[in-house]
Amino acid sequence: MSKPKLLSTHVLFEEPRKKLAEHFDVEYWTGEERPSRSEFLQCVAGKQALVCLLTEKIDRETLDAAGPNLRIVANVAVGFDNIDVSACTERKVVVTNTPGVLDETTADFARTLLMAVARRLVEGDRMARSGAWTKWNLDQLCGTDVWGKTLGIIGLGRIGRAVARRAAGFRMRIIYNSTSRAPAEIEKELNAEFKTRDEVFEQADFLSLHVPLNAATRGLVGSAELARMKRSAFLINTTRGPVVQEAALIAALERGIIAGAALDVFEREPLIPDGLRRDNVVLAPHLGSASIETRTRMALIAVENAIAFFAGKRPPTVLNPEALTQS
Ligand code: DGY
Repeated sequence: MSKPKLLSTHVLFEEPRKKLAEHFDVEYWTGEERPSRSEFLQCVAGKQALVCLLTEKIDRETLDAAGPNLRIVANVAVGFDNIDVSACTERKVVVTNTPGVLDETTADFARTLLMAVARRLVEGDRMARSGAWTKWNLDQLCGTDVWGKTLGIIGLGRIGRAVARRAAGFRMRIIYNSTSRAPAEIEKELNAEFKTRDEVFEQADFLSLHVPLNAATRGLVGSAELARMKRSAFLINTTRGPVVQEAALIAALERGIIAGAALDVFEREPLIPDGLRRDNVVLAPHLGSASIETRTRMALIAVENAIAFFAGKRPPTVLNPEALTQS
C-alpha cells in the first residue's frame, strides 16, 4: 500500500526521521538555507502531510499550493502565529504544535539572557577574548545585582511559571500579570503576586515576556509601557518579536528610558536593526528551545501527530479538533 506523501521542511533528527520513514513517503527540504517562499510552495504541492518550522507561513496561498490532499500541518514549535489556523480549519486541515516540551528549556534561556544582560557577560567575553583586558579594576564592567530584585512576568503560562521558579533561588520578588489570574495554589507555590499590567511595568527590575503572539499581544510593549519602566530596568523577550514595538524599544534604549534589554526574538527575523546592536542589549538568534534534547522532542511530537492522524487517531497536540471531526 502506498504511504502518504509528506514534506518536512527540515531534515529533523535521527529518531524522528526513522519514524517518519516507517509511515510516510517523505520529501525533506535539504537546502542549507531555509526554502524561499516559491521553493516552499513548489515542494508542498500534492503533499498529504506537512511538517514545518516557524519560518514557514501557512496561509491560504500555501493551502492552495498544497492542493486538496493536504490533511495535516504539524508545526515544530509551540507558537503557531505562522499558521492561519482558521483557514486550515475551513479546509479541514488539522494543525498541531509542540506544547509542554520546551517550557523548562526556554525558561533556562530566559534566565540566561537575564543574567547575561545584568552582569554584562557578553561585554566581558568580548573584552577577555579580544585581549583588551589588561588589568583587574574595581569598577570594571560592573553590572547590576539580580538577587533580591523584582522580576515582572507578563504571561504566567507554563513558560512564565518555569521562569518564576528559577527566580526563587535568587530570592527575587515575583510579580505578574496574565489574561487570567493564576490559581491561588500556583501563586503560593511561586510566591508570585498578581498586579495590573501597568504595575508590573512600573515595579519590575527585570521584565520578562511570556505571552503568545496574537492580535491582542502584537505590539503590547510600546513607548507608553517602556516609559512606565524604571530607568534601571531591563526587558527580556524570549516569546515573539512583534510583541514588542522594536522602534519604540530602540528609542527607549537611546534615551536611557530603560537600562537595557536581552532579546531572543525580533520583529522581522532574522533581521536585527542596528539600533539594537548596543552594549546594553544582549542579542540571540531565537535560541529559546535550542537544546538538542528539546528540539529532538519537538520534532518527535510533530512526527507523532502526523502518524496518529493517518492511523485514524486524534493527534496528541491538535490545535483545531473541529477540523478533525469534520474530516
Ligand atoms: C516555539 O516553539 O514557538 C519557539 O519559538 C521555537 O522553539
